[in-house]
Amino acid sequence: MASPYLKQYLMTAGPTPLPPAVSQVMAEPMLYHRAPAFIDVYARVLGGLKNVFETENEVLVFASSGSGAMESAAANLVRPGEPVLVASCGKFGERWAELCEAYHGDTVHWKTEWGRRVDPAELDRVLADNGAVETVFTTLSETSTGVVNDVKELAEVAHRHGALLAIDAVSALGAVPVRQDEWGIDVVVGGSQKALMSPPGLGFASANRSALEHAAASSGRRYYFDWGRTVRRQLADPPDTAFTPAVGLIRALDVALGLIADEGLEQVFERHRLLGRATREAVKALELDLLGGEDEKANVVTAIRLPESIDGAEVPKLMRDRFGVTIAGGQGKLAGKIARIAHCGYFGAFDIVVTMSAFEMALRELGHEVELGAGAGAAQRVFLEAGVPVLAG
Ligand SMILES: Cc1ncc(COP(=O)(O)O)c(C=O)c1O
Repeated sequence: MASPYLKQYLMTAGPTPLPPAVSQVMAEPMLYHRAPAFIDVYARVLGGLKNVFETENEVLVFASSGSGAMESAAANLVRPGEPVLVASCGKFGERWAELCEAYHGDTVHWKTEWGRRVDPAELDRVLADNGAVETVFTTLSETSTGVVNDVKELAEVAHRHGALLAIDAVSALGAVPVRQDEWGIDVVVGGSQKALMSPPGLGFASANRSALEHAAASSGRRYYFDWGRTVRRQLADPPDTAFTPAVGLIRALDVALGLIADEGLEQVFERHRLLGRATREAVKALELDLLGGEDEKANVVTAIRLPESIDGAEVPKLMRDRFGVTIAGGQGKLAGKIARIAHCGYFGAFDIVVTMSAFEMALRELGHEVELGAGAGAAQRVFLEAGVPVLAG
């Protein structure tokens, strides 16, 4: 059990650390959601979300975790008995298959090995073999493995086969580009508690005209998550909500979106690229392998294969309880085999340096010989050469 006085560093891919200004706004008095003071905030948030999703679509806001936003996609897109395809490459991709089955889709679950990207050419073949698929569901940033898929190419392939593409961008939004309109992605879902630097509890779905029409053509089997009603209420002037919104969380998100805008979205992506690169260099300096190899797109979470000679499940526990640094271990079939260091959201250079120091100490304590400082030093060198990223907060 960790001492309550141990200084804490949260290095997980959600919930992520909150900038102080985001935490502070939640201590303010509650607002009535139909009062002008809240409606102003809400309108600003709806606009700010469009910037992050890079879309002209109305981004629908639900009081749910990211999985709720995923469920909204299944509830609106999956028609009982009609064919849908899930292209998964990790734990969160599997969730799409569970959701499609829960909504009685005729679900083909095509699995890519964990740690590899979904291959567009293979998707092309799979779709050719499974004619008339209505929607393809996949993941942009697969948080369980660190892989970031090329969803632009996957959208092109899906459209060639007459299917819509719905992507889970829960851990991607605000960390890596999600250019929904430019890339022609029909549906993007997200959540508040990762790179959007807000507490857990908000789910988002951005659906284009084709996806909304597909949803409207098959009503029923949904209530809270009905996209049609949510779009109508959000597009009212002033914007409205069908149900009581999560007022405190929306205020927090308002501040966080303001910080992202202040830093500049492209600069935010650049910072994540640098954090990812520094972390990968640190891992290489420790002579450990990256799950999925060295991948310059994998800038949300770095997944490290742990030495087989140690009990891998102990690494995150020791780092948390002895050193105050919380990282994540592996999920599902990767439990005990990998460590996942997140750098999505309110993270800077020294979060990586501190985390690598604690990681080295944990490996040493568990009996794997590493040179203390080797990984942290490699990260420091990246930051010295490229500059320490400055982030709003
Ligand atoms: C890629 C991805 N999809 C979906 C989810 C599920 O989101 P939530 O836990 O907010 O329901 C997560 C959360 O870790 C995620 O990383």
